[in-house]
Amino acid sequence: MRSILVMNAKGGSGKTTLSINLASYYAIEGYEVALVDYDPQYCALDWLENRPEGRPKITGIEGLQKGARVPRGTEIVILDAPAATHGRQVTELLSRAQTCIIPVIPSAIDLNAAARFIDEITELGRVLNRKVRVASVANRIRENSPGHFEIEEFLESTKLPGGRKLPFVACLRNSINYSHAADRGLGIWEIAPSKVAHDLEMWAPLISWLSSRGSRPA
Ligand SMILES: Nc1ncnc2c1ncn2[C@@H]1O[C@H](COP(=O)(O)OP(=O)(O)O)[C@@H](O)[C@H]1O
Ligand SMILES: [Mg+2]
Repeated sequence: MRSILVMNAKGGSGKTTLSINLASYYAIEGYEVALVDYDPQYCALDWLENRPEGRPKITGIEGLQKGARVPRGTEIVILDAPAATHGRQVTELLSRAQTCIIPVIPSAIDLNAAARFIDEITELGRVLNRKVRVASVANRIRENSPGHFEIEEFLESTKLPGGRKLPFVACLRNSINYSHAADRGLGIWEIAPSKVAHDLEMWAPLISWLSSRGSRPA
């Protein structure tokens, strides 16, 4: 089973947005998908509630519930982490995943918070031993404003202990398409292609990294 965790201690960085869109992507591709929501506000599960009948199925799971398990036969599990994850919860969530994606939005506060969070998780044994592969994604980029160079430079230059580079795998733009799709229980793959063509292009490197060997433990 392929397991992908979306985590960043900072709220509002796009964890749920990435999680639901990844779930939608793999469901459309025909995989058995489970979406595990670890946020007590259950935003990802609310999204799922709105999902129209007849759409490729995604099984929602309350991650905080004791004994929560993904159904037998699940091929892809997406784990949507809550905000303010630190310490034991981080270790616990990382232990459930092969891959961890860290979305970062371009603001000074978010960059500082991301730097601290990346420092915290890259010191952990599971990350150091490459039992879980971590990558960053810039989210809510405004292509017309120069602000995005800063985040790209920051993520591009982020190193793991030992000097290896932290893979920086995609830049997603700020787009109303995410909320338009989410309001209807859909991912951006499921709304008018003419509207989302550019967003889908921006997702392509993330999807491609996730299917590469480098995104999972050996
Ligand atoms: N790329 C994006 N473009 C536009 N809005 C976005 C984007 N990513 C996230 N958002 C919006 O930002 C808000 C916070 O995103 P969310 O995914 O809930 O963050 P988190 O789960 O990290 O708290 C939501 O309203 C979401 O629709
Ligand atoms: Mg969330």
